Amino acid sequence: MLYIGIDLGTSAIKLLLMDQAGKICNIVSKEYPLYFPHPGWSEQNPYDWYDQMIAGIRELTADCDRSAVAGISFGGQMHGLVVLDEQDQVIRPAILWNDGRTEKETNYLNEVIGKKELSRYTANIAFAGFTAPKILWLKANEPENFAKICKIMLPKDYLAYRLSGSFCTDYSDASGMLLLDVEHRCWSQEMLDICGIRKAQLPKLYESYEVVGSLKADVAAQLGLPETVKIVAGAGDNAAAAVGTGTVGDGRCNISLGTSGTIFISSKSFRVDDNNALHSFAHADGNYHLMGCMLSAASCNKWWMDEILKTAEYAKEQEGITKLGENTVFYLPYLMGERSPHNDPRARATFTGMTMDTTREDMTQAVLEGVAFGLRDSLEVARSLGIRIDRTKICGGGAKSPLWKKIIANVMNLKVDVIESEEGPGYGGAILAAVGCGEYASVEAAAEKLVKVIDTVEPDPELAEKYEKQYQKFRKIYPALKDVFGMLAEA
Ligand code: XUL
Repeated sequence: MLYIGIDLGTSAIKLLLMDQAGKICNIVSKEYPLYFPHPGWSEQNPYDWYDQMIAGIRELTADCDRSAVAGISFGGQMHGLVVLDEQDQVIRPAILWNDGRTEKETNYLNEVIGKKELSRYTANIAFAGFTAPKILWLKANEPENFAKICKIMLPKDYLAYRLSGSFCTDYSDASGMLLLDVEHRCWSQEMLDICGIRKAQLPKLYESYEVVGSLKADVAAQLGLPETVKIVAGAGDNAAAAVGTGTVGDGRCNISLGTSGTIFISSKSFRVDDNNALHSFAHADGNYHLMGCMLSAASCNKWWMDEILKTAEYAKEQEGITKLGENTVFYLPYLMGERSPHNDPRARATFTGMTMDTTREDMTQAVLEGVAFGLRDSLEVARSLGIRIDRTKICGGGAKSPLWKKIIANVMNLKVDVIESEEGPGYGGAILAAVGCGEYASVEAAAEKLVKVIDTVEPDPELAEKYEKQYQKFRKIYPALKDVFGMLAEA
């Protein structure tokens, strides 16, 4: 039997074909545009996602026995607001996870409704990219669109809906809407009332490994796949990536270096940190997790390479970097504002510390280090909760760089386990599809069997000590500039 995992990312949709033994048979990636209609806004067209998914599935399965495909599932970019009208037409472009337009609504939720109440209803507080503040923004700024809303869904759920006709979501992704009572795995009526929406406008909730339907006849014919192909709910991309890297069960850690950067800690029990600095979400294995999310991670390096250095030679640019732990240049990675732990959509990226002898390599190194320091900020929150982590898995495009993995291992003082495939969300999606189709008894059992560690990057005590000092400097820069960022946003 064959299983398709679909990673609905921000820069591309990545599709992965896996056999029942966990072997990756094919991978296809299809890009689509990302729109920034105003500074700090971030939108995509759900029709682009769908069209590229259809083209991608056809290409992915072109050389295989299509009748052997048994299931499809997803890891999807989280928090995006997709709204459909009565005719199932998309009302407006999707507002994405890294969109910062909802500062007013986020402040209203955190300060007028109150963080304590929000945390009681949902286990989380409001962050600008979460879905509930976007609904409030739409209500205030586009009332004609708000009035048309028949269905509210998350990005990957739009794909599942078009494939199967099932209006559904899963608990891990729903956790990031700020509409779910995460602990009790049900919609929060209080949050629905605050946002002025009805339960009927929200999808039916499933565990990530549950079957939500099967391929619609016309879509099956278009794809050349059997109508019996099961559509499995899937997960938010970080929970799916965690499945794909074997970060399931209790106390395991995964770092994702994609457009966003996340640190994900799996947990068998539900917990919330006192300041809600980490997200407390449901996991795709039926349990829970804590997560810190940076809005710009590998995207900082992409921006630096593509837009500023104007080069496609990412690996070559890193070859000349030799002075690890000694850089005098520091980079704040806040190109889209920052989520964890600052919750500040006005924060901006900066370089500081350059002198006349600063080199191109120092600047590139500072970018890689700035992202690692940003992830360390979230790790510190987890450590302050008494969570002990000494090793992590790693996935995402940035994980392809051996240098970046070394920097992360030493900045965070963690052993970094490298797995066979860094295709976290796509592989996780395929595993969820296999579990949904009954190939494995549970997500944990499947991940234990299929995910293989092929290498470990160990921190070097001397370098880790140097990076400890560097990190202590880094953490002073944002507080010193916070007011400046506020001033720049006013201008
Ligand atoms: C997680 C988050 C990002 C997106 C990226 O909270 O916002 O990781 O899911 O796709």
